[in-house]
Amino acid sequence: MTTAVARTSRWRETWDFLWLFLSPMGSKRNVYDILMPHNNLGEQSLFLNLGYWEQAQDYDSACAALALRTAGKLNLEGPFQVLDVGCGFGDQDFLWAKTWTQCRWQAINVHGEQLATARERLSQQPKEIQDRVQFTVMNACVMDLPEASVDRIVSVEAAFHFDTRQQFLAEAFRVLKPGGQIALADVIPLTDPAEWSVLKRALTKWGLRFWYTPFPNLITPVQYRASLEQLGFRNVAIEDISEQVFFPFRQYAAKRVEEPEIRRRVNPLLRGLWGMRGRSAKKGKSDGMAYVIVSAEKP
Ligand SMILES: C[S@@+](CC[C@H](N)C(=O)[O-])C[C@H]1O[C@@H](n2cnc3c(N)ncnc32)[C@H](O)[C@@H]1O
Repeated sequence: MTTAVARTSRWRETWDFLWLFLSPMGSKRNVYDILMPHNNLGEQSLFLNLGYWEQAQDYDSACAALALRTAGKLNLEGPFQVLDVGCGFGDQDFLWAKTWTQCRWQAINVHGEQLATARERLSQQPKEIQDRVQFTVMNACVMDLPEASVDRIVSVEAAFHFDTRQQFLAEAFRVLKPGGQIALADVIPLTDPAEWSVLKRALTKWGLRFWYTPFPNLITPVQYRASLEQLGFRNVAIEDISEQVFFPFRQYAAKRVEEPEIRRRVNPLLRGLWGMRGRSAKKGKSDGMAYVIVSAEKP
């Protein structure tokens, strides 16, 4: 299920990606202002995550598996109002709505261009799905939602972008009903940046400009748990699924970028990056990062 879009020239797009790294004061744009649907590794989907590769052989099924594994941390057997935060082009919402048929899904994203595509794709879904999925432009950190109005919150590979994640978690706690649950697929460092060398901190800050990630979001699993508990969340669980994510994704991506279809449509800079990362990937090594699924409840 892909969607044709008007695209800027390849050179212009490459320059825009490069400017994220090179602009001395930091670009006003971010990677999602540039990353249009054609820059995607899917065959049928427009997912934007690294996938869960325990059984998957291709990108579409790995991304679907990650979405199901994340939402699977929640009890969704009921007529619940679920909020999907940072919904990309909506693939996981269509999948979840087909899987958990009693829930209603409100999917939010700060990038309106992605939601225009998501809404167009929703109009191609069966009416039964259209009636239970809604896309809204909204910032995860300033939610235009009443207090205690949502039963469940889910977010796949987006919370590290939010400015800040802590502000989003406070908003999540506010809008959840008592007894509500949250599940997040997220990426964090294994060690505290406060203990890193000055050079490592500086290089990381620079690299994070490309990945649209505020530096304060670099917290360890222990700090993540503490910040949820300080907000009032209980039954916090953090599952490290790094081995089924980083290495298999990098291996797959390095092969996929050589395929003619991908060479034709995906930006050469991204192909180069995915190819390079894939060739240098080593099983069991994750550059000091952890891919985690975090879940918690509001008492
Ligand atoms: C890595 S993509 C993941 C998309 C989707 N969940 C998936 O798994 O395919 C991160 C998403 O978070 C969205 N996002 C980033 N910052 C946001 C914010 N402050 N509020 C809401 N969405 C945000 C981006 O636009 C993008 O759609």
